[in-house]
Amino acid sequence: MVVAQITDMHVSTPGSRPDRVFRTAEHLERAVDHLNGLPLRPDLVLATGDLVDHGSPEEYERLRAILARLAMPAYLIPGNHDDRTNLRAAFERHDYLGGAGAFMQYTIEDWPLRLVALDTLVPGSGGGRLCPERLAWLDERLREAPERPTLVFMHHPPFVTGIAAMDGMGLDGIEALATVIRRHPQVERIVAGHIHRPIVRRFAGTVACTCPSTAHQLGLDLPPQTRLTVAMEPPAAMIHCWLGDGAGLVSHLSVIGSYPTHVVFENGKWLPLKD
Ligand SMILES: [Fe+2]
Ligand SMILES: [Fe+2]
Repeated sequence: MVVAQITDMHVSTPGSRPDRVFRTAEHLERAVDHLNGLPLRPDLVLATGDLVDHGSPEEYERLRAILARLAMPAYLIPGNHDDRTNLRAAFERHDYLGGAGAFMQYTIEDWPLRLVALDTLVPGSGGGRLCPERLAWLDERLREAPERPTLVFMHHPPFVTGIAAMDGMGLDGIEALATVIRRHPQVERIVAGHIHRPIVRRFAGTVACTCPSTAHQLGLDLPPQTRLTVAMEPPAAMIHCWLGDGAGLVSHLSVIGSYPTHVVFENGKWLPLKD
């Protein structure tokens, strides 16, 4: 079972600043082609928030049209740039997004790896929150299937990154989330977005990681740096492969774009490197 993760697509309207400067829609088109063209085709795609830049109906319409070209189902959660009402309206066929006013939290039960979506959005805030209501829901869901390997996906990562500007809009409720996760050792991974960089950290007995954006990345602005930069480093997706009991869940970074490649090994044999 292969789960692709894309994040922070920040799709905007034609001619808008994200469209002109970061070319976010064009980058998402490339990400869709990339996922459709992978030799081991993902079974599904998780899009972990900041799907669009301003949460407007026009942006969601453009997002919907691009994602419609995916050869596999896509499951969405909101990030701090999203708007639940407009997201629901554009993706009305995505029943799992729930009814008006509800948090966008759901489970996907169709594959050997169980997938659990968490909604960290706080309207009007760059930071996220897991309140007691959202965490109680998570605890109940995880209690339902203690034997099933599980991946939890959310927008805001449950850890401090060391990038001060991003930590200033971090997740509220990290300790309470850790208390829930520690009760459920079947959680193989927590995957997130928001930081526009790949980061890995041990968390409450599991592994938490973030995925780069499909478009613009953030610079590695660790102290003493106090600024935050956008860096047009290569876009990427994460490919989370469930290899079964024993081999477990392996998370690969899959860089989007074309780069020189050399076949060096095939059918059990090393090949001579050609100039
Ligand atoms: Fe983002
Ligand atoms: Fe974000």
